[in-house]
Amino acid sequence: MERTESRARPSLEWLGLRRFFARRALASRSDAEATGHIDSAAAAASDAMYREIAADVDSLLRLGPSDSLLDIGCGTGALLALLAPQVAQARGIDLSPAMVEAARSKGLAADRYDGGRLPYADGSFTAVIMFFVTINIPRRDLVVGLVDEAMRVTAPGGRLLVGASPHPVASGLRRTPSGSTALVRSLALGMLGRVGAYSIEPELFGGVLARHPGSESRFAWARETYPAGPGKYHMLLSKPTSGRARAGDKAGER
Ligand SMILES: C[S@@+](CC[C@H](N)C(=O)[O-])C[C@H]1O[C@@H](n2cnc3c(N)ncnc32)[C@H](O)[C@@H]1O
Repeated sequence: MERTESRARPSLEWLGLRRFFARRALASRSDAEATGHIDSAAAAASDAMYREIAADVDSLLRLGPSDSLLDIGCGTGALLALLAPQVAQARGIDLSPAMVEAARSKGLAADRYDGGRLPYADGSFTAVIMFFVTINIPRRDLVVGLVDEAMRVTAPGGRLLVGASPHPVASGLRRTPSGSTALVRSLALGMLGRVGAYSIEPELFGGVLARHPGSESRFAWARETYPAGPGKYHMLLSKPTSGRARAGDKAGER
């Protein structure tokens, strides 16, 4: 996998998220508490929750030994640690350096992210996941930009699973704002070190698909027991194969 350098500091719009998750990462007793999923979650409850999510990822992505996996917004690496043994290579990336350190302390490969271009070449990963990340992103253009970047680093024939986004109707959360109000809001949240919780309509992914001809999407509801309330869905985006098959793949093998 080819890596490119990324700028060290995230732009202002991302500062709120970075500060919020840095504080949680440093002052929590379990992965679920650090990532904000459950307040005061004991380690056993946290482990059970991540096992359930890993089972969902597996049933949607069908990971295998020829896969190279990237987890965007990997947090403390709890989910990645469960998935890593199934794939050839696993890597996480997160806006929060404290989260990156927590993931590295589990023996995982993890990179810092500045919120702009992902520091990987086009098509570097056969499988990309991004779980519980869209919920806190304070602006629609930032969500779209991140999903676009995730598609860029997904290999031809690969798949991107944007997991656990709140549905605007089913979750009852307000939609991620856009325009100048959203910019002011995200800067204000940044200064306060706070995050919001927003929903994203599944149609948002249609715009991303249009920029990647031949790609397809599949919608699936998340379990009602998912953290931070019900009404979440997964969006699985698949890129068409264009000559570059996955390493070790043979037709009909999966
Ligand atoms: C709610 S936590 C979820 C962490 C992990 N996916 C999990 O399920 O345990 C959200 C994580 O996404 C990170 N994050 C938010 N926006 C991000 C972005 N644009 N790129 C990378 N990480 C991001 C945060 O720093 C935080 O660690």
